[in-house]
Amino acid sequence: SRTHHIAVLPGDGIGPEVTAAAVAVLRAGAERHGYRIEVSEHLVGGAAIDATGEPLPAETLAACRAADAVLLGAVGGPKWSDPGARARPEQGLLALRQGLGLYANLRPVRPHPAALGASPIKPHLLAGVDLLVVRELTGGIYFGARERSATHASDLCTYSVEEIERIVRRAGALARERRGYLVSVDKANVLETSRLWRETATRVMREEFPDVRLEHQLVDAMAMHLIARPREYDVIVTENMFGDILTDEASMLAGSLGLLPSASLGDGRVGLYEPIHGSAPDIAGRGVANPFAAIASAALLLRHSLGLEDEAACIEQAMARALDAGALTADLAGPGTAIDTAAATRAVIAALDPPCQVAG
Ligand code: NAD
Ligand code: IPM
Ligand code: MN
Repeated sequence: SRTHHIAVLPGDGIGPEVTAAAVAVLRAGAERHGYRIEVSEHLVGGAAIDATGEPLPAETLAACRAADAVLLGAVGGPKWSDPGARARPEQGLLALRQGLGLYANLRPVRPHPAALGASPIKPHLLAGVDLLVVRELTGGIYFGARERSATHASDLCTYSVEEIERIVRRAGALARERRGYLVSVDKANVLETSRLWRETATRVMREEFPDVRLEHQLVDAMAMHLIARPREYDVIVTENMFGDILTDEASMLAGSLGLLPSASLGDGRVGLYEPIHGSAPDIAGRGVANPFAAIASAALLLRHSLGLEDEAACIEQAMARALDAGALTADLAGPGTAIDTAAATRAVIAALDPPCQVAG
């Protein structure tokens, strides 16, 4: 089999800690399952600003374009958060998403029983939750024209029909493969972009996915429904900023922000895989971050970019086994029982044995 090239962008804060964990699991999986990976590391975010002055050096973007897939940790932190700074780490991540044309951000939420104790939500509401948020990633207010004077600021939110069509198509196709139920989230009672979003979603789904049930929700109500009845949802499609906010909220269904992975996909060849969490400056450098979101992102990389479905499922099963066995970092564990990032990573690697059972 050929060697798969993975560009790893550790970034800032806990980024390097959790990407190291994910790479260790990928290597261990490769040894057991006979796939071959080659990893190269590149600068992004604050680390790239410190070294080159730019949050996304041309070398990094070129390496990502040439790779089979990209694994990213996180960017940002107080060191680079001065409001007057010329370059911000977050710009690097946005430029990377845009540069690779990654308009579809898949954020699956499937709480694991062993982590439910860490959730602030009552356990009976969480059993059986299995949802997928499809977040539009290269449009909306994140990428509109912006202005700033001493006394005024503006961020423009824009969407084109084409941008809405392609993300709704992605979500429709995913819903068809799952439970055939799609909820589109907007703020159509107030925003013009949301009215275009709703019209377009309705048309695309009627014309192309008549077998998928479509429902619309306003984002404020959805924030409530997500917590009150999470089990009822299957695929949720929404615009860039709503998806950002709703998925940090949804992480509480799983018990920790440190558990949620993501896959960013476009129509091109290269996908980007990263935890939904940030650089966690409050715990960075202490080796205590939860590596599961990064490891689960690596599993999504195997599945979506390398076509290694069974190998991805085996890593997911190993994570489940490790959690079952009590491999809980501080964000999940009771007082005095937490293990560190390295120990949690070793537990996942150990749980790759005995060989996993995958359906199909
Ligand atoms: P954050 O996600 O970094 O942290 C929020 C809280 O969750 C913190 O208390 C943190 O300790 C905890 N947490 C996050 N990941 C964890 C993990 N793996 N294990 C244990 N605990 C974890 O959000 P923030 O503090 O608002 O942002 C910090 C920086 O990260 C900012 O500069 C922000 O822009 C950036 N950020 C980057 C990304 C990204 O690179 N994709 C995502 C979100 C935020
Ligand atoms: C995320 C982050 C990013 C976003 C920031 C760091 C630009 O919060 O990946 O969820 O808002 O998309
Ligand atoms: Mn976010």
